[in-house]
Amino acid sequence: MDKFIIEGGKRLEGRVRISGSKNAALPVLVSSLLADGWSTYRNIPDLADIRTIKRLLANHGAQMEGQGETLRINGGNISNCEAPYDLVRTMRASVLVLGPLVARTGKARVSLPGGCAIGARPINLHLKALEAMGAEIDLREGYVEAKAKRLKGARIYFDISTVGGTENILMAAALAKGTTRLENAAKEPEVVNLADTLEAMGAKIKGAGTDVITIEGVEGLRPCEVSVIPDRIEAGTFLIAAAVTGGDVVLEGCDTNHLDALILKLRETGITVEPVDGGLRVRGAPEIRSADVKTLPYPGFPTDLQAQIMALLAVARGSSVVTETIFENRFMHVAELRRLGADIVVDGHNAVVKGVKRLKGAPVMATDLRASASLVVAGLVAEGKTTLSRVYHIDRGYQTIEKKLTALGASIKRVRA
Ligand code: EPZ
Repeated sequence: MDKFIIEGGKRLEGRVRISGSKNAALPVLVSSLLADGWSTYRNIPDLADIRTIKRLLANHGAQMEGQGETLRINGGNISNCEAPYDLVRTMRASVLVLGPLVARTGKARVSLPGGCAIGARPINLHLKALEAMGAEIDLREGYVEAKAKRLKGARIYFDISTVGGTENILMAAALAKGTTRLENAAKEPEVVNLADTLEAMGAKIKGAGTDVITIEGVEGLRPCEVSVIPDRIEAGTFLIAAAVTGGDVVLEGCDTNHLDALILKLRETGITVEPVDGGLRVRGAPEIRSADVKTLPYPGFPTDLQAQIMALLAVARGSSVVTETIFENRFMHVAELRRLGADIVVDGHNAVVKGVKRLKGAPVMATDLRASASLVVAGLVAEGKTTLSRVYHIDRGYQTIEKKLTALGASIKRVRA
């Protein structure tokens, strides 16, 4: 298992290009199952999770070819409706094939994802919505088995705003008979990217990006040519990394609108963030001020940046309260940040962060994707050497993060095990 060795204390400076969004690319690539013929997808990041979704699509019979950031997929010839445990276990987003498989073939057998490092993460709302659309759902031997002659449009209210649930049902509803109305739908930019893709395939969708989405089902969809949006979480991670090192960095190719909650929070801590020609410039402050942070569905502060901002608040002046409202167990990074000298106490959904003057390098371990990003951020500002093990977590969602950081002046090396 690879490790990162980080020598902290280097100021980040320069320009960095933000890659395509992992969490947008996954559903967009899955939507290839909905149409016969070759679709073209641009700005696809080169990540472990993307390789997993490609394996899953190939398992269903999809053909693909591609170079660099452009991928062509013909997902229309579905030869196998089962998403096996081994793939779903590696990546929960695999459950996104459920809606498209039922819509397209009338049946699907998809392994139930288990809990994961950040919470129980059930898929009950995906299943309830498919049932409302007329699917028969059985849970057998750890698998969800879904059947429907043709899904029917329905009115669906999501008890919790769910990104994956909204995406799954958007894809199912695109080919259902009649109109589906999703209430309390997720408003995340990744959902909008998927809705735009489906529209490019001929789907009839209104309201994506709001909490009510209406989908008028069509008889068939056609291949499309689309681009995936920039990764707002990768961008946010670089903003925080630059800020914590007192750096001066321009992010190229990110979408500033998607980062509003983070930008406003960083300004509250004294960091300067401003749009410049071709990107977004972030400049550190002589002293970082504390700030309270509460994660919420979009446009609120993203849970996927909670761990990283905590690393910044760990060296701020004063105390901050970080409240996690999306996942029940997303504080696994706290124990590791404490190994670096952070003063953080967790009480239920709240973490009280008392800023310290400096963090000190130590061996730490990544427990999930964003926790590892937070440990990289902390390692960049800690005095001395931080060794981060289980880097495979970070490889799931950050394209060559060590190379991008090195180009900005950080001292970070990958040690191959
Ligand atoms: C997506 O996960 C992202 N993953 C996550 O990013 C992100 O943290 C999350 O949305 C929230 O923004 C992808 O897009 C691939 P949810 P998802 O359904 O869709 C509960 C990362 O680090 N819930 O919006 O799985 C659920 O347990 C990852 O890149 C139910 O109770 O999240 C959670 O508490 C991690 N029943 C809340 O809703 C359901 O049926 C929101 O989850 C579905 C969800």
